[in-house]
Amino acid sequence: MKDVVVLVGTGSIGQAIARRVGAGKHVVLGDLKLEAAHAAAQIFESAGFETSTIAVDISSRESILKLVEHAQSFGAVKNLINAAGVSPSQAPVAAILKVDLYGTAVLLEEFGKVIADGGSGVIISSQSGHRLGALTAEQDFQLAPTPTEELLDLPFIKAITDTLKAYQYSKRCNVLRVMGQATPWGKRGATINSISPGIIITPLAADELKGPRGEGYRNMLKASPAGRVGTPDEVGDLAEFLMSSRGRFISGADFLIDGGTTASYFFGDLQYLKTTH
Ligand SMILES: NC(=O)c1ccc[n+]([C@@H]2O[C@H](COP(=O)([O-])OP(=O)(O)OC[C@H]3O[C@@H](n4cnc5c(N)ncnc54)[C@H](O)[C@@H]3O)[C@@H](O)[C@H]2O)c1
Repeated sequence: MKDVVVLVGTGSIGQAIARRVGAGKHVVLGDLKLEAAHAAAQIFESAGFETSTIAVDISSRESILKLVEHAQSFGAVKNLINAAGVSPSQAPVAAILKVDLYGTAVLLEEFGKVIADGGSGVIISSQSGHRLGALTAEQDFQLAPTPTEELLDLPFIKAITDTLKAYQYSKRCNVLRVMGQATPWGKRGATINSISPGIIITPLAADELKGPRGEGYRNMLKASPAGRVGTPDEVGDLAEFLMSSRGRFISGADFLIDGGTTASYFFGDLQYLKTTH
């Protein structure tokens, strides 16, 4: 039996993180698209990692429970990486909420029951959640501890009608659920944190930059403090630190990694976006 790393969502961000924490462990590669998991497995195996693949739909608790069972069959689950998600241009409101909001909450809950002592987890949220204005204290409180099966029935979640808002509420909820789960994960000797990236070049983001909204994105990046996009490896480096022995005092926290874009959106040259994004 080996220590096990579970990666859900085998795109470039997830892969960058798993490569940094997967050496000497068994790496479970789970994705809605089994072919994406297989493609990642080929890359990992050819770089010396031990892997297995599994089709997972995080919007289904049953599917997540199968993933937990699969992972435990290889050993103790030491790390969870959630880099699965759908973006505002990829899916309708209901699907975004079911995958990004509910699915992430169920993953946190179910892996929080089995995570090994000394373990750690990272959830990929988004800078987009930081652009949502402040919620009420009651809404914040509801998003954190409401039982997962009741989350999608919260009246202010049911009232969401556009995909960007669905994505933003989901990503805000990810951060709050991580705070809520820090206690049960801590009781098992494990840490759990979220990372909120800005635009990171993945095949998906590259398409966006070439697509109809591309010019707007390029202007935003040029005017941002860093003046460029981010890379999956930069997110991987941050996640590696959080999941390493140096990160043991960090739990229930969110880390914005966006080249200063959010700061500029509120107080700098990017304030003009407030009316459009
Ligand atoms: N790329 C960016 O600029 C950026 C910025 C901020 C946040 N993010 C977030 O990072 C995460 C990873 O994004 P990415 O850019 O690597 O995209 P990606 O599309 O390359 O990877 C996401 C993966 O999630 C999988 N997936 C989708 N729905 C799923 C489901 N129901 N169950 C299991 N797997 C599912 C997809 O098949 C895909 O392989 C997402 O949560 C995204 O919201 C990305």
